[in-house]
Amino acid sequence: MARRLKLGVLISGRGSNLQALIDAAAAGDWPAEIALVVSNKADAAGLARAEAAGIPTCVLSHRGHPDRASFDATMTAALVAAGVDLVCLAGFMRLLSPEFVEAWHDRLINIHPSLLPSFRGLHAHEQALEAGVRFTGCTVHFVRAEMDDGPIIVQAAVPVLQDDTAETLAARVLQAEHRCYPQAVRWIAEGRVRISGARALVADAPANEDFLVSPG
Ligand code: GAR
Repeated sequence: MARRLKLGVLISGRGSNLQALIDAAAAGDWPAEIALVVSNKADAAGLARAEAAGIPTCVLSHRGHPDRASFDATMTAALVAAGVDLVCLAGFMRLLSPEFVEAWHDRLINIHPSLLPSFRGLHAHEQALEAGVRFTGCTVHFVRAEMDDGPIIVQAAVPVLQDDTAETLAARVLQAEHRCYPQAVRWIAEGRVRISGARALVADAPANEDFLVSPG
């Protein structure tokens, strides 16, 4: 098999998307491997997931770094030392400096629990419920300087049910996240994703011309 793309995964908490990537890597035919997991929280549950899979981890505290740029420079140094090709944000709840975003331009992706450009930032599910949309979902995208902005690689639409709470909706969207993130990484690793202006084009992606209706 050709060389697998080396991933650096950045987390702050639970790490269920990290787990989806770990599981994809374990499946064998996935063209990527996780070289390093970085957390900005020492108590992030995702660290145990990485350790259980034998993946090197690194905890970086903002204490000891005078500013965001110096924290991010330490992070870049760790990622480069691990030979990382692509950085995957997986619930990393810390703003990134423009220097970091620039250093990893087109090699930095994020998963966000809404259909961007709707509902950027925190509390995406509460925002969706408040807006009364019938569908929300998740987005995997390249990262640009603006928060939750950048060329979209894949999205999944998830219906909003009338009795949803933020918790029930989050759980439904999370299932879609766990399918989308490994898929997006696969396409990048296979060299099938090309950025054209604000768009990311995926070569030979299966077209889904069907539609969903909610309420059904
Ligand atoms: C996920 O739902 C992810 O989309 C979201 O945080 C959660 C992390 O869960 N990310 C953001 O909101 C980023 N703006 P996880 O730690 O179980 O993967």
